[in-house]
Amino acid sequence: MTQVQSGILLEQCRFAIYLEANIQGEFDTIRLGCRKFCLALKEMQQKFPQEKLGAVIAFGYDVWTDLSGGQGAPELKSFVPLGKGLAPSTQRDMLIHIQSLRHDVNFAVAQAALAAFGSAIHVEEETHGFRNIEQRDLSGFVDGTENPQGEKRREVAIIPDDQPDAGGSYLVVQRWEHNLRQWSRLRVEQQEQVMGRTKLTDEELPPESRPATSHVSRVDLKEEGKGLKILRQSLPYGTVSGKHGLYFIAYCARLHNIEQQLLSMFGERDGQRDQMLRFTHPVSGSYFFAPSLTRLLAL
Ligand code: HEM
Ligand code: MG
Repeated sequence: MTQVQSGILLEQCRFAIYLEANIQGEFDTIRLGCRKFCLALKEMQQKFPQEKLGAVIAFGYDVWTDLSGGQGAPELKSFVPLGKGLAPSTQRDMLIHIQSLRHDVNFAVAQAALAAFGSAIHVEEETHGFRNIEQRDLSGFVDGTENPQGEKRREVAIIPDDQPDAGGSYLVVQRWEHNLRQWSRLRVEQQEQVMGRTKLTDEELPPESRPATSHVSRVDLKEEGKGLKILRQSLPYGTVSGKHGLYFIAYCARLHNIEQQLLSMFGERDGQRDQMLRFTHPVSGSYFFAPSLTRLLAL
């Protein structure tokens, strides 16, 4: 079986660091940096075996094309703005996603990443995510309930072994900023209509009793009878008195599934938008490809 990068399928992580970077150095320095980073990560995983530490290095379209000599990831493209700019594109060259049960361990791994790549990358945005009480988003709704579990995670997120790019995965990142003051003006029943689930008990509202513009209705899509599934690894981030929200990150064996959900949320499928946009909006957006670990080390 092809080795998958260790940060994709992890379950129950409590903290994450997301580094979005642009590349300003030689591609050979990037290749070397990937190998250095993977070595440093392995050492930390051995030093802290209990902490479910994993990481992912992923590339945007332009850089992947150069690094791979145009081989593979046929679905990869740069993020384009959606919903007349409601979802902006800030497409970056590279993402480093680190997650585990401990913020201090993540922090050391992020430092190792910066040391490995040196001046070949410039970090454009760094976000620190944390698991909130009861796995709730800062809106107060449980996030991640319908995520694939166990074996299903690999099926959904990883390109199968009999295909080119085996062990690889496509992903999207979007940093969302919430307006919680605005959100708190809605009654709980109104909030539940926006999300499409109950707040306290986290139960899905049946399709007939939730609006087509509820979040769940926007993203619970089917194609030829089959659900378009993705694997979400998002976490809340931010400061109490300043900016806060959800750092949305989702992996999938097909970029198609992610893109269809986004098109549906931003009114590009049927003209209807996700009602969540009443209290939160994305301020960034990038697509990436995370090659298998085997491929990453051989670039
Ligand atoms: C479900 C919150 C953005 C895809 C959910 C749920 C919540 C939630 C509370 C219900 C519980 C669960 O099943 O996890 C949010 C928030 C977002 C956000 C606060 C941003 C601020 C997105 C985006 C996508 C997405 C951008 C897709 C590109 C999904 C999917 C489900 C889901 C696929 C599961 C639906 C189902 O099968 O029932 N989200 N979400 N979400 N969300 Fe989001
Ligand atoms: Mg469902």
